[in-house]
Amino acid sequence: MTHSDAAPGRSGQTAEVLSIRPAVTADGPRLVELDRATWSPENAVAPLRDDAADFFERRPPDDVLVAEDDGAVVGYTQFGRPTPLASNEHVLHIQGLAVAPSARRQGVARQLLEAAAAEAARRGIRKLGLRVLGGNTAARTLYESAGFVVEGVLREEFWLDGRYVDDVLMARRLT
Ligand SMILES: CC(C)(COP(=O)(O)OP(=O)(O)OC[C@H]1O[C@@H](n2cnc3c(N)ncnc32)[C@H](O)[C@@H]1OP(=O)(O)O)[C@@H](O)C(=O)NCCC(=O)NCCS
Repeated sequence: MTHSDAAPGRSGQTAEVLSIRPAVTADGPRLVELDRATWSPENAVAPLRDDAADFFERRPPDDVLVAEDDGAVVGYTQFGRPTPLASNEHVLHIQGLAVAPSARRQGVARQLLEAAAAEAARRGIRKLGLRVLGGNTAARTLYESAGFVVEGVLREEFWLDGRYVDDVLMARRLT
């Protein structure tokens, strides 16, 4: 879908030749592995996925973009409609984003978000939304730097790791 040189992050490192492409079924086991490697109560509301789980059980590969660095999948994002209602079909939500710990601060997530925004625009989407946990500072900083603004906060929406945690609704206008 897109193929571009990565932008340098604060670390000064860049992912050498990063390509972003739609996922294929064969990516499933690696994507489960990435989910498991990045899972934490700071960023996840669902329990840790089993390593034999089927990544594509509830989403089609077409709704997942993967980032490949030198042939290795180092990150992904997935998107989907927040509701099936016709009145809500101009909105798409980022419903997952993860980058391997070894590939962070090299602009991988930023490029995945840009590719997701481009794909959403291609589908005629007006607003790209997402939900992020209040304490997930890395992701919130990333989203703000990528043009997402806070549209609301669901106070103490989740009970995670022994405390109540806010869920923050953010969105970026595409048109
Ligand atoms: C959040 C996450 C996806 C960021 O991935 P990444 O590829 O390292 O992010 P990028 O390199 O594209 O960062 C882009 C910008 O986001 C911000 N950012 C990223 N990680 C950050 C961190 N740990 N602390 C503060 N800001 C951070 C910075 O502004 C950064 O720009 P800079 O490096 O030039 O300063 C990654 O840390 C991750 O997988 N976390 C676990 C899963 C998760 O929280 N997913 C989001 C669920 S809503």
